[in-house]
Amino acid sequence: MSYSVAVAGASGYAGGELLRLLAAHPEFEVRTVTAHSNAGQKLSEVHPHLRSLRHLTLAETTPASLAGHDVVFLALPHGASGAITAELPADTLVVDCGADHRLTNPDDWAAYYGGQYYGAWAYGIPELLVSTGSTGKPGKIRDALAGATRIAAPGCNASAVSLALAPAVAAGLVETTDIVSVLAVGPSGAGKSLKLDLLGSELMGSANPYAVGGSHRHTPEIIQNLKLGLDTSQGDYSTGDGDVTVSMTPVLVPMARGILATSTAKLKPGVTEEQIRKAYDAAYGTEAFVQVLPAGHFPRTADTLGANTCLIGLSIDAKVGRLVVVSALDNLVKGTAGAAIQSANIALGIPEQTGLTVNGVAP
Ligand SMILES: NC(=O)c1ccc[n+]([C@@H]2O[C@H](COP(=O)([O-])OP(=O)(O)OC[C@H]3O[C@@H](n4cnc5c(N)ncnc54)[C@H](OP(=O)(O)O)[C@@H]3O)[C@@H](O)[C@H]2O)c1
Repeated sequence: MSYSVAVAGASGYAGGELLRLLAAHPEFEVRTVTAHSNAGQKLSEVHPHLRSLRHLTLAETTPASLAGHDVVFLALPHGASGAITAELPADTLVVDCGADHRLTNPDDWAAYYGGQYYGAWAYGIPELLVSTGSTGKPGKIRDALAGATRIAAPGCNASAVSLALAPAVAAGLVETTDIVSVLAVGPSGAGKSLKLDLLGSELMGSANPYAVGGSHRHTPEIIQNLKLGLDTSQGDYSTGDGDVTVSMTPVLVPMARGILATSTAKLKPGVTEEQIRKAYDAAYGTEAFVQVLPAGHFPRTADTLGANTCLIGLSIDAKVGRLVVVSALDNLVKGTAGAAIQSANIALGIPEQTGLTVNGVAP
């Protein structure tokens, strides 16, 4: 069976990556691509690398142009999706790569984004741990994606940090109010529109911090994700009584795509490296797309480029009693378009890995 697909925001970076992956997916047929200022252009004018889709022309992004497809992927600026999806049929699978449907708390939406809040959808990190209460083993978000018709693909930085820390948090091995994450981030994470700080002359040969001091919009998403793994019924997971706080500092670096997150958390007294590794193996040992590297090995962004992987390296800094997790992913693949397609595969009952690869493009 082939599913008809429309991609909105197809002229942007996330839209372009969706198209690159969808073009190689055996179950999806891209019929419609839409844009905003580029509407009316041939797709090949804005994405000359997408040779197999050069016959397509960008239409206006409207509910009418997106209607009549089995699956609609949205890659629009935040705030632009809610009104459109409200008009799409309930049985159309809609996967939003924007932030509009990620946050479950309207106050977080108001504090970090603002504007109308359209509610949260099933969240697109299938491997993320979810507490099943005090008795059972943790589950995964994957279970909530099966059969879903509305999916919120994750934020790219949120994916890198959440996947890096969730096993330690869910297993109660770290203090959840002493978490720090510093990320090296490629500028494609900020999209294709023209911005002064993204000019080549500003970026080349320089590393530029931004959203310093806790203002990055992915902060509440990471906290929400890590809380999912906590068994709040026990109330003893942290010094903060089930609270989670994250100090996050992203740094723009001169590589087109990729995120390398170094996340550290204070270990609870007596926690050993063996316990840590056991928790990560239990969480990700059977996962194809989230892989924990052997002791002493740490990922490079190049190992994940073009791949739908998040690669994780673990260490313990015994002198300061901290867990150190280095995670790498491609912001445009596992950080958005790949996660969106992986989640759509699950929702439709297609084998989860279809159309996605674990092999990166290095050097
Ligand atoms: N880039 C990443 O690594 C990444 C990762 C995770 C999530 N995301 C999310 O994916 C979404 C798209 O990001 P992006 O990086 O692809 O941005 P982008 O490169 O700037 O692309 C934005 C797209 O939205 C269209 N657009 C702009 N204003 C619009 C409006 N008012 N109404 C409808 N369409 C409009 C643009 O069309 P024109 O070009 O024709 O004007 C373009 O197709 C964002 O919500 C972003 O947060 C991105």
